[in-house]
Amino acid sequence: MSRVAYVNGRYLPHAQAKVHIEDRGYQFADGVYEVCEVREGRLVDERRHLERLDRSLAEIGMQRPMSPAALRVVLRETLRRNRVHDGLLYLQVTRGVAPRDHGFPPPGTRPSIVVTAKSTDRAKADALAEAGVAVMTVPENRWERVDIKTVALLPNVLARQAARAKGAREAWFVDKDGFVTEGSSSNAWIVTADGAIVTRPATPGILKGITRTVALEVAAKQGLRVEERPFSVAEALKAREAFLTAATQIVMPVVRIDGQQIGDGRPGPVAQALRAHFHESAEVGL
Ligand code: PDD
Repeated sequence: MSRVAYVNGRYLPHAQAKVHIEDRGYQFADGVYEVCEVREGRLVDERRHLERLDRSLAEIGMQRPMSPAALRVVLRETLRRNRVHDGLLYLQVTRGVAPRDHGFPPPGTRPSIVVTAKSTDRAKADALAEAGVAVMTVPENRWERVDIKTVALLPNVLARQAARAKGAREAWFVDKDGFVTEGSSSNAWIVTADGAIVTRPATPGILKGITRTVALEVAAKQGLRVEERPFSVAEALKAREAFLTAATQIVMPVVRIDGQQIGDGRPGPVAQALRAHFHESAEVGL
């Protein structure tokens, strides 16, 4: 089935969906985005994703491209036209098209908005989670405002590629003090030898993942001990378990870091339980 993309008011065949060469997203990475899980045709945690989009827009001094109600209609229509049952929805808003100039474009310049949706194979993702993934650490080299979900992702791209070249699925950024910040497109977690779940606080320094927020709720419901504090690579290597969270991965066990086995080298019970019960706490919409 052919895919359809929403671009600035029109639903277009994916192959013909284009933005102008002077789109500020293209020229300056001057824009923000969201990725939302789709499960059984429904958006997962749409409210939280749209709230974070609003926050990102405000942080870069942009207005909403359309009302939240209109946006929700577009998201649903994009899902419908792509017949997505299980998959991902991508939403990007940039500061629009204008002659190249670093300063903001003239008032009235319309933001560009793109929405795409694709199907993913849930069985394949579950199989990956049963095996667990490898992670490679890289030095943190991003700007200080990684709390904004901007499309300026070059450090993330380079980190991910470096990890991939070493056979790892994700890169974990490590700050100058040796503490893990987060993944190139996920948040990072460990479970210590005495059973505490540890993840970095969502102060600037990481993106406050929606999946992270929900996973914390699941952990609380399960009566698990959570410590929101930084952890070092050394501590991660000694951990009983490690895992990552993102809308694209839900809760994904990590079984190797920098080539070293974590725990017994298999997905641990905490990560598996958080994954299994995740959607009981997530808001799954209509
Ligand atoms: N990325 N940290 C970074 C740097 C991310 O890019 C992401 C998500 C997360 C997790 O956020 P959430 O749980 O809300 O998905 C953390 C998306 C999935 C992406 O770029 O594809």
